[in-house]
Amino acid sequence: MTPQIALVTGANSGIGFETAKELAIQGYYVVMVCRNLNKAANSAQIITEETGAALDIMQADLASFSSIRNFAQKYVDKYDRLDILINNAGLFSDSRRQTEDGYELTMGVNFLGTYLLTRLLLPVLLKTEESRIVNIASGAGFYGKINLDQPFQGPHGFKGYSASKLALIWFTISLAEELKSKGILVNAVSPGRGATNIWRGKSLLMKIVRPFMLRSAQSAAECAKTGLYVALAPEAEITTGLMFEKSKPLPYNDRCLDHQSRQRLMQLTQNITNV
Ligand SMILES: NC(=O)c1ccc[n+]([C@@H]2O[C@H](COP(=O)([O-])OP(=O)(O)OC[C@H]3O[C@@H](n4cnc5c(N)ncnc54)[C@H](OP(=O)(O)O)[C@@H]3O)[C@@H](O)[C@H]2O)c1
Repeated sequence: MTPQIALVTGANSGIGFETAKELAIQGYYVVMVCRNLNKAANSAQIITEETGAALDIMQADLASFSSIRNFAQKYVDKYDRLDILINNAGLFSDSRRQTEDGYELTMGVNFLGTYLLTRLLLPVLLKTEESRIVNIASGAGFYGKINLDQPFQGPHGFKGYSASKLALIWFTISLAEELKSKGILVNAVSPGRGATNIWRGKSLLMKIVRPFMLRSAQSAAECAKTGLYVALAPEAEITTGLMFEKSKPLPYNDRCLDHQSRQRLMQLTQNITNV
């Protein structure tokens, strides 16, 4: 029998690494999806040494639509099931950068890349009974502002980060509604502030801010707990379309519940990803 498969994006470090390790311990066959194969191989080796589990590594750069499409094709050629999709890969960018397709990098990776990857994997998720999608968002999404006239060319830095995470929360709600009758649970997670590589950058702002972000931050393993809970807990405990923090549902604020803006963003995203 094919083992149950859990796919974790950005599994080579931080919260993704801890998530992949725990899922391997729980008996899932883990597919680590990373942009850098060398980093991924090192991390996979550590997990194998610690757990005895074999893992697969696949390459995808979420800042490139063509890379995501290549990866998804390879995945569906290789595997005929996907039980848990953990959309963990993400970044904070303290300078203005663009994806290969010309979108602001933070929005491009944290939302657009994740959106495209998820949509391309939906057929295999639908083939798998009781599959789940867990989007690692952030409490920052509750403060996000998205200019719907130009949603994918917005600011970088904290404004860009919170906007990208609001977009991911909106995607979670929309996809949960769409898939409700099809047996796939879709939820978002606020992992809490963690001492990980995410707070990188050479700008003066980052040099000042980083120590504050790392002060009293939790370990990556601690931050991974809520995503793991949402991935593994009994269905009745988690339902669908919710945001979880500290393994409990976190009520959405008005910004997250702005139905009209959410619909508009999803339509615009559909138009540019063409999936
Ligand atoms: N740490 C926190 O305080 C915190 C708080 C709230 C939410 N989060 C969210 O938690 C998630 C995990 O972050 P983390 O804190 O564990 O940070 P991290 O250690 O920097 O991990 C981020 C992962 O995403 C990958 N990634 C970045 N850009 C990518 C791209 N273009 N294509 C593919 N993968 C890419 C990174 O790969 P490389 O190693 O190759 O860069 C890394 O594996 C993120 O979505 C983050 O927004 C974190």
